[in-house]
Amino acid sequence: MPLKIDVLTLFPRMLDGFLAESILGKGIAAGHLAVNVHDVRQWTTDKHRTADDRPFGGGAGMVVKPEPVFAAIEQLQTPGCRRIYLTPDGVPLSPGVAQELSQQSHLILLSGHYEGVDQRIRDVLIDQEISIGDYVLTNGTLAAAVLIDALARFIPGVLGEEKSLTHESFTSKLLDFPQYTRPAEFRGMSVPEVLLSGNHAEIEKWRRARAVEKTRQVRPDLLK
Ligand code: ADE
Repeated sequence: MPLKIDVLTLFPRMLDGFLAESILGKGIAAGHLAVNVHDVRQWTTDKHRTADDRPFGGGAGMVVKPEPVFAAIEQLQTPGCRRIYLTPDGVPLSPGVAQELSQQSHLILLSGHYEGVDQRIRDVLIDQEISIGDYVLTNGTLAAAVLIDALARFIPGVLGEEKSLTHESFTSKLLDFPQYTRPAEFRGMSVPEVLLSGNHAEIEKWRRARAVEKTRQVRPDLLK
């Protein structure tokens, strides 16, 4: 059974292009994962389809109401599914988190306004809270997209070549080495000779040295 992901958002159309394109689009078309996007307003019951309201205690912005989200998750959840809330005050997304989630059978991803969702949703319905970084997006829909993209790469078959996964940044705790493709010379800039040599041991050595150099410059914290 492919991994099933239900996304609950106030802005479902934000995900249209994302889910149709490129490697993720192909992975979905090939049946490696299934993503269903739901508009939280579907579960509202009033004439104006009100999904958010002003915060008790005052303050700026709007907070997502409990009723539609409780109804939505209670309808969508399955035994053993993982219910995740995307929020800047969650646990940072890492390759380990993404890989672990890729091995689940059913995920429900809830994205809220940047001002958040009613705390009772988080207390009762949410198993795990994830942040995609120390910055605040206007809503969590793009964060859900980032999470889906990051975990899809760990689902067997989604990336054509197994190799492209193991070679990449963060699996090795090193940043990537530089890549080149044809032409070997472009506007007077040549591709490093070693890459044209066919000597695989030398190429590996060169790539590792460049990766270490780049990591030392940009992310010395990864080398500690
Ligand atoms: N919603 C708004 N900002 C976010 C972030 N940085 N991570 C996850 N969800 C968010």
